[in-house]
Amino acid sequence: MINNKSEVVLSYHHRTKHRLERYARGPESIDWEDQPDPFRRFSGCELISLPKPGTELEPLFTHLDSPDLIVPLPLDLTTLGLLLELAFGLSAWKQFGPSRWALRCNPSSGNLHPTEAYVISTADDFMKPGVYHYVSHDHSLERRCEFAEPLNDAGILIGLTSIHWREAWKYGERAYRYCQHDTGHALGALRYAAATLGWSVELLADWSDEDIAGLLGLNRQEDFKQKEQEYPDLICRIISDDHSKPIDSSRMIELSQAGSWFGKAQSLRAYHMYHWPVIDEVSAAATKPHTTEIMLQADYHSPIKSPCTHKATAIIRQRRSAQQFDGKMSSLPLNDFYRMLSAVLPSSKVPFDVWRWLPKIHLFIFVHRVEGLASGLYSLPRSHEALDKLKAATVTDFDWKIISEVIPLYHLYSGDCRQIAKTLSCHQPIASDSAFSLAMVAEFSETIEATPWLYRRLFWECGLIGQVLYLEAEAAGLRGTGIGCYFDDSVHEILGTKNDQFQSLYHFTVGKPLEDKRLETLPAYGHLNELMST
Ligand SMILES: Cc1cc2nc3c(=O)[nH]c(=O)nc-3n(C[C@H](O)[C@H](O)[C@H](O)COP(=O)(O)O)c2cc1C
Repeated sequence: MINNKSEVVLSYHHRTKHRLERYARGPESIDWEDQPDPFRRFSGCELISLPKPGTELEPLFTHLDSPDLIVPLPLDLTTLGLLLELAFGLSAWKQFGPSRWALRCNPSSGNLHPTEAYVISTADDFMKPGVYHYVSHDHSLERRCEFAEPLNDAGILIGLTSIHWREAWKYGERAYRYCQHDTGHALGALRYAAATLGWSVELLADWSDEDIAGLLGLNRQEDFKQKEQEYPDLICRIISDDHSKPIDSSRMIELSQAGSWFGKAQSLRAYHMYHWPVIDEVSAAATKPHTTEIMLQADYHSPIKSPCTHKATAIIRQRRSAQQFDGKMSSLPLNDFYRMLSAVLPSSKVPFDVWRWLPKIHLFIFVHRVEGLASGLYSLPRSHEALDKLKAATVTDFDWKIISEVIPLYHLYSGDCRQIAKTLSCHQPIASDSAFSLAMVAEFSETIEATPWLYRRLFWECGLIGQVLYLEAEAAGLRGTGIGCYFDDSVHEILGTKNDQFQSLYHFTVGKPLEDKRLETLPAYGHLNELMST
């Protein structure tokens, strides 16, 4: 039965589609001087500096496929700092003329970074029990809350939130979608970072948004400037040894609510010229209640082995978005292509071991240059159940011939798809000059009509897949880029899908990057050394 909330969500989704004849509603002009501060800080909090960032760890990227081979490091302030750095910290600065901007280990649409990260310390160990906000720019923690007493054995939790307005400043109404993508990327970034330290991550998927907001103090309206508030997304527990016990979440929220709170969010220092009330509406309609989650076992085999011999920390820190591709590259080796696709299938491997729901996102891939594969359109259904539904919903002429024994990859159509891919992705050449680009297509209406807040989870799943592709591309000596700008219904037209059963929610592209030589690259945390030496 369609309920009012799902109607709000579906209506938001439709009105924020980019169309060939017009883009979704956004600001008519952008004053770049007025960009919101990408780094949130709370004034009036105790600051905890984290140990110097930049440490390389021994595990190779390929070792992340076999977590049992990685000896877990003890959880202390140094390794917690590394976790935060590798997940959400700075990876470099770029400079062009007088402009300088930071890049981070997690990507973000428009580099606006709506995602904020929090640490919750429950034991009275190397950090006092309480809630801390991570400032990636300074690699430090701000103590927002001190609990009156510790909560035994719950360990360290990480909370993720979004400042919708930071993204809406540039992208207007469509921004809410991008915030959700970014959350999915951040979850993936956290999972890879934890794996590199030999740890795992448990998504506390039953928590309601209200619970997360209560724990992180997001409901303390007096601490946030109007229109710059944060919205709860996810809460995860870091598992660094075998001793963690079930969490008493009610007790933890009680401790936080009754704790001593410090600080106020500083202004993001931008003028709020445009307002997008539809974001508040969809956000309210897609609020997550408390749920009982049944986590499934993944039903695919292990991924194809990666030949990458680089350290995982190096791959994570070197991740970037390609701005341009060498459209003439020799073809991508078939094995590398298969490896990348096998890595996005649900499995017990990082990062999908945190994501134990039936997959709802399936790939349609425009192959431009892959050795031994005809150029054309291919499909990678990410669950066995989806195959027949996808076949029935798409163009009847599609071939649907399985072409690999190791991954469920189907040939649909042969032909040069470069122009189509470029046009569909808002005319961006990164979608055509690459080795392949793809659309992530969601099982949509059935999901949203039953449970409106799952709208967000569909985007999170896309972001998670995107994060895998980013790192796998680096590991294969290539580069990827997430693509949030695409013409929604034109994609559906090409695939032949009608109504809302399937909707394309994210695009991605992978190829050989061309460096922009005009840009200077500076070290991620050089500014901390400068600060220390003055
Ligand atoms: C959800 C999402 C959507 C994006 N959409 C586009 C896009 O349409 N076109 C593009 O060139 N880059 C896109 N990007 C790449 C971002 O611009 C990039 O992540 C950001 O500038 C930070 O740079 P980095 O990824 O190199 O750290 C997207 C990234 C994300 C996470």
